[in-house]
Amino acid sequence: MNHFVYRRGELYCEGVSLASLAEKHGTPLYVYSAATLRRHVRVFEAPLKGADHLVCYAVKACSNLGVLRVLADAGCGFDIVSGGELYRALKAGARPERIVYSGVGKTERELAEALKAGILLFNVESEAELEQLEAVAARLRRRARISLRVNPEVDAKTHPYIATGLESSKFGIPIKRARAAYALARTLPHLDVAGVDVHIGSQMTDLAPLEEALRSVRALIVELVASGVHVRYADVGGGLGIPYKPGDPAPPLPGLYARAVLGALGDLGLTLLLEPGRLVAGNAGVLVTRVLLTKRGAARRFCVVDAAMNDLLRPALYDAHHELAPVKRARRAEGVFDVVGPVCESGDFLAKRRRMPEPLAGELLAVLSAGAYGFSMSSNYNSRPRAAEVLVDGDVARVVRRRETYADLVRGE
Ligand code: LLP
Repeated sequence: MNHFVYRRGELYCEGVSLASLAEKHGTPLYVYSAATLRRHVRVFEAPLKGADHLVCYAVKACSNLGVLRVLADAGCGFDIVSGGELYRALKAGARPERIVYSGVGKTERELAEALKAGILLFNVESEAELEQLEAVAARLRRRARISLRVNPEVDAKTHPYIATGLESSKFGIPIKRARAAYALARTLPHLDVAGVDVHIGSQMTDLAPLEEALRSVRALIVELVASGVHVRYADVGGGLGIPYKPGDPAPPLPGLYARAVLGALGDLGLTLLLEPGRLVAGNAGVLVTRVLLTKRGAARRFCVVDAAMNDLLRPALYDAHHELAPVKRARRAEGVFDVVGPVCESGDFLAKRRRMPEPLAGELLAVLSAGAYGFSMSSNYNSRPRAAEVLVDGDVARVVRRRETYADLVRGE
């Protein structure tokens, strides 16, 4: 459930009409709902009540400071994957002891910054990174708390670009080598070996692969504890899918997801770390775009809008489906259109062969479920200034990132 609803035929974000926001701030425009962000955290956490846990929102999904602030206030920790995300999280008021740092390649500078900040855990993804972190920690005379991210070699059954637990994947340490890697980690004096981490993929709509992965992780934890490792944390990553397309099978509800996690790891006396990104932000944001014109090709009809693949890359990159909703409902004949942006690539589309009311130049469309991996994956391709972002909380709308200008485009050149 989210707080984008029609009132008298007009699409609202909480108490604010999207049309009024587009009028005031222009398009393309990202609009986020604070109430929806909070609600998603609440719904995700409710079935974990009673279990020692920390939700570490995956900053990469939507890293706007305004959004991070809402989530920090809601009690979230953060999962970061770069020095830039650390900077953002701290700026948004995150407590360092609630930050975990994932990713296959961290620079020395990034490791040092995170160590100095005093983050909770490094999710280390290779033997080489263990050595690197040991060296940096020794130089800074600090001890780094670590988990090893293991790769359980299961297929998350999601788009191949976002499956991370395959044998062929760059992520984590193959679980077969995990015992040896833990043995190595224990010889490194500036590392405090504290946990086990796993993340098998994103937009998971089936829990079976996760359950399989967690069974392997459980077995590993039990072995590690028996061999004297003081395991205190189990990080199960993110990845729970969200509904994008009406009619598609609904992804498992948070209650079922929690049952899978608690079923596998709940009795081990550990602090559970969870790293949802999409689930929190995805349906808490839309991208509002204006129709520029319609045109007829030889074989198809096109609806050309002012948002493009540089604003929302998911359709181009993953062939992802995003629903389109008219900002003002109208009774009109329907047609089938490719909804495309102005970027000079045939891959620049927001929707293909979409049945929709015949669009009129100047009208507004909302691209739904765009809160996660929307703005955060946007770029300046074709020298397009990036969109503005607005955060709505009740009846109040705040610009949390101003639209870029042409001057922004060449800043630094
Ligand atoms: N933890 C780690 C270590 C991750 O790599 C990710 C996502 C998450 C947590 C959060 O996963 P989520 O709950 O959002 O599924 N750009 C793609 C998604 C890439 C996900 C990358 N890692 C997309 O637009 O679908």
